[in-house]
Amino acid sequence: MGARVLLVGQGGREHAVAWKLSRSRDVDAIYVAPGNGGTSRVATNVDVGPKDIDGLVAAASDLNIDFYLATMDDPQPLGLVDRLRERGLPCYGPTAAASQIEASKAWSKQFMVDHGITTARHRTFQDHGEAVAYVESLPDGPLVVKASGLAAGKGALVCDDREGALAALHAIMVKREFGASGDQVVVEERLQGWETSAHAICDGETAVVTPSSTDYKRALTGGRGLNTGGMGAYSPSADVTPELAAAIERDVVQPTIAGMAAMGRPFNGTLYPGLMITEAGNYVLEYNARLGDPEAQILMPRLESDLFAVCSAAAEGALASVDVEWSEEPTVGVVVASGGYPESYTTGHLIEGLDTLDDDVEVFHAGTKQTPAGVVTNGGRVLTVTARGPTLAAARAKAYDNARRINFEGAYMRSDIAQIEETE
Ligand code: AMP
Ligand code: GLY
Repeated sequence: MGARVLLVGQGGREHAVAWKLSRSRDVDAIYVAPGNGGTSRVATNVDVGPKDIDGLVAAASDLNIDFYLATMDDPQPLGLVDRLRERGLPCYGPTAAASQIEASKAWSKQFMVDHGITTARHRTFQDHGEAVAYVESLPDGPLVVKASGLAAGKGALVCDDREGALAALHAIMVKREFGASGDQVVVEERLQGWETSAHAICDGETAVVTPSSTDYKRALTGGRGLNTGGMGAYSPSADVTPELAAAIERDVVQPTIAGMAAMGRPFNGTLYPGLMITEAGNYVLEYNARLGDPEAQILMPRLESDLFAVCSAAAEGALASVDVEWSEEPTVGVVVASGGYPESYTTGHLIEGLDTLDDDVEVFHAGTKQTPAGVVTNGGRVLTVTARGPTLAAARAKAYDNARRINFEGAYMRSDIAQIEETE
């Protein structure tokens, strides 16, 4: 008998992981809480939210789940992995103690300092007056002020000068715009450079770095517009040289895994550090303890190994015994979003063209809902269309050719995903 696997989340990332698991010989059933209109095609949606730990534990028991694979951040700091492991359920994902590396920036900054991992110079405060006095003691200049807790990626306020930093402290500590996530703040030096990230599959002791990827955070073509959850991605990244990838693995990923183990908080699950590459070195800005979205939508189709085999080996601390193999072929994922995202947009629009796509192209749903009339829009990021090809340009052309066949009222996509400047 194969395994019955639980995922938690409702993004394109969860659809991509469910799709990959559905191709595993050893998986019999997949459940996604709460899931979306796409996950319901390869899995069964379960009506429980990601922060309802009692509800998730009860669902795991009712549905005879025998494996939990963490993809999104919310459940882990609330102890889902701890609760399921207590019941003897194998899990790929961090315990509450290990997830502090993402859930508390104050904790993770101290961790980096203690383990010699390069990060921006910082101070942590719980008291608004002390934070203000510190900022006023510095020369007037750029700073970054961060709410320490989870803030849906919005808790870092990049400030040009002292006045901006004081306003940020007021917003986080006095107006409490991020609630209890602002109980502690980190004030740090503002770095200049370019950003990249890495993903590693970890079993507490061993870390296997995935191929590199680039995601596109801004809403509009050319990098204009507001920050979003991600408007597209491709892999391998043209920006990450083999030397840089090796440096990130050697100087960030391996010392992080070793440091977490040494602290008695072995890190199991996906580690996703965000970095700033500067003239002075490679700085870790933050750690995520989850898979990126839309990075999952381009990494899953490149993974040739059986995802369940990899994650179940990782859950048992036996990652070193499995080969994790990736296709040589690049992948490109283009997000089709609702016009107006990430600000206001309308939903409920019928999505047309899904049945006209090439067989070897994958469509991962995020903001969709299955209705009797068909699949309708139900969020800002609606779908990711992912294609593979012998070259990046071929994968890109195929992804765009297919994405353009999809239509709904207000559909919008960036036109420059994986558009690489020719340097030769
Ligand atoms: P974080 O949530 O810590 O990753 O920060 C979110 C974003 O804020 C990053 O992706 C950067 O664009 C920016 N940021 C964070 N820390 C710094 C820093 N020390 N210097 C410059 N930009 C930063
Ligand atoms: N792609 C950005 C993120 O998942 O945070």
